[in-house]
Amino acid sequence: MIVLTGATGLVGRLLAAELTGTAGVRAVTRGPRNAGFPVDVEVVEGDPSRPETLANALRGASALFLHARAVGDAAHDLVALARDLGVRRVVALAAANVDDDLAAQPSRFRGDRNKEVDVAAATSGLEWVSVRPSSFALNALSAWGGQIRAGDDVRYVHAGFEESPIHERDLVAVLARALVGDDLLGRRIDLTGPESLSHAEMVRLIGDALGRPLRFHEIPAEAAARGMLANGFPEPFVTAMMARYAAHLARPQFPPTPEVEKILGRPARTFAEWAADHADDFRPAEE
Ligand SMILES: NC(=O)c1ccc[n+]([C@@H]2O[C@H](COP(=O)([O-])OP(=O)(O)OC[C@H]3O[C@@H](n4cnc5c(N)ncnc54)[C@H](OP(=O)(O)O)[C@@H]3O)[C@@H](O)[C@H]2O)c1
Repeated sequence: MIVLTGATGLVGRLLAAELTGTAGVRAVTRGPRNAGFPVDVEVVEGDPSRPETLANALRGASALFLHARAVGDAAHDLVALARDLGVRRVVALAAANVDDDLAAQPSRFRGDRNKEVDVAAATSGLEWVSVRPSSFALNALSAWGGQIRAGDDVRYVHAGFEESPIHERDLVAVLARALVGDDLLGRRIDLTGPESLSHAEMVRLIGDALGRPLRFHEIPAEAAARGMLANGFPEPFVTAMMARYAAHLARPQFPPTPEVEKILGRPARTFAEWAADHADDFRPAEE
């Protein structure tokens, strides 16, 4: 039985589906009534940031998936509880920037504790894996989806900023392998997409998937920051995000690693494939 924290989220739902059929899945959520999982997923109420609420979920389980947003500041205590209750393996979802200065990790300002889950897994005394993905390709949807659904012009900061976005299905396939296989144990795995792409190139590839010639307009960081603040992002997060872009303009952040292909035995999915998979998400509702 594998216990998933963060199970109702974007990664968690895909991971539950990937594991079902291979292993028993216990999905932890603070809101079990609205969880909406298929019948073969066991849903258990609990809040991973309060480990004592997970005792029932962990009893009899073989492995624990540690989700850095859901676990919050409780990674160490949750892993200790899992160990006490006989869980043999812990797999952390951390992030590629986990070893950077904590103040330079934007998602910390939204509550993600990637460093803590990475360390808690590696020092657990259990079988462990820490998966450290680069930015999700899905971030393109939150950054540009609204503008692309509304028209062909995308206004965003730093046309030339480059990174290697990862398809969520590749991430989830590697996480599943870490949870059920033995070949990745004891590793910190830096996982990326197969190519380094600039903001402008990603927008062009989304346009190709849509059959529309999207135009990227670079705007100053201050203007982009104002837009993110207006969309409800916390100010320290926005500041850290703009600093991240500015700090990595000279060369790509998170250049591609070969890990997806080495682990899965097939090439990592490209951003063009991701854009094709998500083309409908960029189309206006009435199209
Ligand atoms: N986006 C990226 O580019 C990127 C890159 C690398 C790593 N990551 C990491 O990936 C993770 C995000 O994954 P995701 O998109 O799947 O997350 P998500 O969908 O936002 O959230 C996952 C689940 O966590 C639970 N949760 C959220 N906030 C919580 C809180 N304050 N206390 C307790 N539980 C909470 C919720 O479950 P319930 O409401 O059901 O309890 C939620 O469904 C983050 O840890 C991030 O650092 C992201």
